[in-house]
Amino acid sequence: MSKVDIEETLKLITHGVYVIAVKNGELENAFTAAWAMQVSFNPVLICFSINPEHYSYHLLEAGKVCTINVLSKQQMDIAQHFGTPGLKDKMDCYEWRAATTGAPALTDAVGFLDCKLSHFCDAGDHKLAVCEVVDAAINRKAEVMLYSDTGDMDGSSELYDSE
Ligand SMILES: Cc1cc2nc3c(=O)[nH]c(=O)nc-3n(C[C@H](O)[C@H](O)[C@H](O)COP(=O)(O)O)c2cc1C
Repeated sequence: MSKVDIEETLKLITHGVYVIAVKNGELENAFTAAWAMQVSFNPVLICFSINPEHYSYHLLEAGKVCTINVLSKQQMDIAQHFGTPGLKDKMDCYEWRAATTGAPALTDAVGFLDCKLSHFCDAGDHKLAVCEVVDAAINRKAEVMLYSDTGDMDGSSELYDSE
C-alpha cells in the first residue's frame, strides 16, 4: 500500500469537527480538533489527540479542564479560525459562557461536553488526552460537520512522513 493510499483511506474514517476550549486560571484558549472519541461508559471518558506543541496543550496540562464543542456544517469559519496557528486574541471573536468546570463553552456550538482531564497517553507526535465527562448540553439541532467536509484545511497532506 502506498503513502497516498494510507492518507486517502484514513480520510474515510469518520470524525466530527470540534472546538476544544481550555482554561488555566485567567488564561483561556481553544483549538479545532477532529481526532476525538468516547472510550468508556463507566466512568464516561472521552479522549482526543493533541499536539504537545499547541498552546492549548500547555493550558490543559496545567488547568486540567476543557470543553469539547461540536460544530455544525455551517460553522466552517469557526473551524478555520480555531485551526489557524498564531492568532492573537483568538477567543475574542465568538461568544462563550463558563461551563461547570469553569472551562469556556462556545455559545453557538451544536452542543458541548464539559470535561476534567484524567491523564495523557503518549501517541507518536501527539498526546492522547483522556478526560472524564462531568456535564453536557445540546444547544440546538443541526447537521454536524464532518472532518471530510474540511478538505485540507488542517494542511495534513503535508504532515505525513515522506517515503
Ligand atoms: C479541521 C482541523 C482539524 C484539526 N484536528 C486537530 C487534532 O485533532 N489535534 C490537534 O492537535 N490539532 C488539530 N488541528 C490543528 C489545530 O487546530 C491548530 O494547530 C491550532 O492552531 C492549534 O491552536 P493553539 O496552538 O492555539 O492551541 C486541526 C486543525 C483543523 C483545521
